[in-house]
Amino acid sequence: MKKKPSRLISAIKKEPVDQIPIWLMRQAGRYLPEYRVLRSKSRNFLDLCYNVDLATEITMQPVKRFDLDAAIIFSDILIIPFAAGSEVKFLPEKGPVLSKIMSVKDVERLNFHNLSDRLQPVYQIVKQTRKDLSNEKAVIGFCGAPWTIASYMIEGGSSRDFSVIRRFALENPKTLKILFEELERCLANHLVAQIAAGADAVQIFDSWAGVLSDSNFKKLSADPIRRICRTVKQVYPDVPIIVFPRLAGIRYEQFVSSKYIDALSLDQTIPCRWAAKQLQSKIAIQGNLDPIFLLSGGSNMLVEVERICDTFSNQNGFVFNLGHGVIKETPPENVQILCDFIREKFQRINK
Ligand code: CP3
Repeated sequence: MKKKPSRLISAIKKEPVDQIPIWLMRQAGRYLPEYRVLRSKSRNFLDLCYNVDLATEITMQPVKRFDLDAAIIFSDILIIPFAAGSEVKFLPEKGPVLSKIMSVKDVERLNFHNLSDRLQPVYQIVKQTRKDLSNEKAVIGFCGAPWTIASYMIEGGSSRDFSVIRRFALENPKTLKILFEELERCLANHLVAQIAAGADAVQIFDSWAGVLSDSNFKKLSADPIRRICRTVKQVYPDVPIIVFPRLAGIRYEQFVSSKYIDALSLDQTIPCRWAAKQLQSKIAIQGNLDPIFLLSGGSNMLVEVERICDTFSNQNGFVFNLGHGVIKETPPENVQILCDFIREKFQRINK
C-alpha cells in the first residue's frame, strides 16, 4: 500500500490539508537547551555534522518538542566547500571562516570529485532520521545555492556588503563560471543523494540572492538554481523542491514559471497579499514571519501570525515558516505558543 503523504508534502502539492503544516528554518540549534547540551560534547560544529547519532538526535529535537510537521537535517550549506577541501571554521563571534578563493588556481586546488564519498555521514543522518520519524512527518534535505556558497568561498566568510564577490563576478567571470559549474554539479548530486537516502522534500537556500544587482540576478541566482532543480527532477520527478531566494523582492517571480520548482520560501520583506496573488496562484508558498516577532513573542507575534495565515490560507499551497532562521536568543516557549495558536485557530480551513 502506498503511504499517505505527509501534511507538508500535500500542502506543497497544493492539495487540501487538515491543518497548516509548520516547520521553521534553523529549528534545530542554539535556542534549544537540549541542543546546547549535545553541542557542548563536541569540539566543533562540523564534527557534530559528521556524527550520525548526535546529528540525527539534534534533527529530531525540535520535532519532538513542538510536534512540527517536518525535520530538516542537521547539517550546513558550507559542508560542500569543506568536503571539497576548503578550510571551514566556525568561530564563536565571527561566524564561518573559509580559505579565500582568489584565482582559478584556488578553485583547481579544491577537489569537487566524488564528494558524495566524503558526505556519506550526511546521507546516513537522512536515513536514520527517516527511520526514527513517523510517516506523517516529512524529512527535508537541503543545500545552499551556488551564489550563496560562492559568496562564503570568495569573501572568505560572512560579509557586510558582499563587495568582494560582486566585484569578482564582474572582473573574473570565467573563474566564477568554473566555480559555479563545479558547485552546480555537486549540489545537484548532494540533493539527489539526500533524496535517495530518504528525504521527502529538499530546500535550496540562496540566503544572499538579494544582494545581486538585477543585471546579474538571472545569471547568478535564478538560472543556476533552475538547472540544479532540473537535474534533480530528472532523477526524482515527484519529490518537491522548495527554493528560498532571500530578499529577492519582485524577482521571486522569476522562479514561479519553472516546472522544476514546487514551492517558494518567502522572506519577511515580501508583502503577503502581493505574494498570494502573484505567486501562490501558481506555486506553493512557505513563510514568512519575521524571526524577530518569534523572539519577542506576545501579542505582536500572534497578530502577525494571524495576518500571514489569514492571507495565505484562502488558497491551497501554504506552509507556515519564518522569513529567515530562528534567532539564537529566541525563547523556546514562544515557538510552542506559535504552534498552539496556528493549530487551534487554523484547523481545516483549507477546503
Ligand atoms: O535549519 C536547521 O535547523 C538545520 C540546520 C542548518 C544549519 N545551517 C545549522 C547551523 C541549516 C539549514 C543551515 C543553513 C545555513 N548555513 C545557511 C542558509 C540559511 C540562512 O541562515 O541564511 C547559511 C547562510 C549557513 C552558513 C552558516 N552556518 C553561518 C553563517 C553560521 C554561523 C552563524 C549562525 O547563523 O549560526 C553557521 C553555523 C550553524 N549552522 C549553526 C547551526 C546550528 C551554529 C553552530 C553552533 O552551534 O555553533
